[in-house]
Amino acid sequence: MTDLLRCPVCGLALRRADRTWRCEVGHVFDIARQGYVNLLAGRAAHTGDTAAMLDARSAVLAAGHLDVVTKGVIDALGGDLPGGAIVEAGAGTAHHLAGAVRALPSRSAIAMDASVAAAKRAAAADPSRITSVVADVWQDWPLLDDVAAAVLCIFAPRNLPETARVLVPGGRLVVVTPAQDHLQELRAVLGLIEIEAGKQERLTESAARHLDLIDRSVIRATRTVDRATACAIAAMGPSGFHLDDVVLRRRADRLSAQTEITLAVTLTRFVRP
Ligand SMILES: C[S@@+](CC[C@H](N)C(=O)[O-])C[C@H]1O[C@@H](n2cnc3c(N)ncnc32)[C@H](O)[C@@H]1O
Ligand SMILES: [Zn+2]
Repeated sequence: MTDLLRCPVCGLALRRADRTWRCEVGHVFDIARQGYVNLLAGRAAHTGDTAAMLDARSAVLAAGHLDVVTKGVIDALGGDLPGGAIVEAGAGTAHHLAGAVRALPSRSAIAMDASVAAAKRAAAADPSRITSVVADVWQDWPLLDDVAAAVLCIFAPRNLPETARVLVPGGRLVVVTPAQDHLQELRAVLGLIEIEAGKQERLTESAARHLDLIDRSVIRATRTVDRATACAIAAMGPSGFHLDDVVLRRRADRLSAQTEITLAVTLTRFVRP
């Protein structure tokens, strides 16, 4: 397999040797029992989502509630994708990434997340194809230059200079962000964090220095969910950091037994010139 990872200490390529990744200089990174490798150099500035948030996310994704997002991402990768790996920054459980590699059988993939709880789950998503790495998206990525055919950034932080560095020329960045009315039926009742206005404009402006915009589309769907699923949807997102489980369940009592919710996300594609 082509080298993809680089040593977070010296920047040389990492090669797999038994249960380790090592560079020529001799820096060694053990593969954890659960299958991920921690390539954080030094202390983590961000620790990412908690195990409870990831359990909630796994349940919601396994029930197929966000399959429209996986499909949208697969469609966004279709066509004339150049050679190279698929990288997901802030991959969480790597559910969407696993869907993408199933649809693109010849590709290897890297799931990066700052959360060890996420990296454990991503390592189990497709062990033969996805390498799961603990890394902070805001720092230098532990990836060599020009290795990625696509970088996915799905409800996750974006590092545009690092994205441009790892993409091959002609490689794509696929960004999924919530639209203004995403989960609107749950937002007030459950006390979810509001979606910032002007997010799309800021994304396009900051990407322009590194990448060219290809297109933007909005994916809309409705799902009917029970109260437990509504709580899991609340707990898996950014509101999960501050929403207490007991408070959440009490608020969910105000919902009908079955609630129709709106899924509305913007999918934006950029290309590295
Ligand atoms: C809302 S979740 C989305 C997960 C996945 N992309 C999905 O759509 O299912 C955001 C993810 O980004 C990760 N994350 C947050 N800050 C990060 C950082 N600075 N570096 C790497 N990952 C980060 C979190 O741990 C979490 O798994
Ligand atoms: Zn090294």
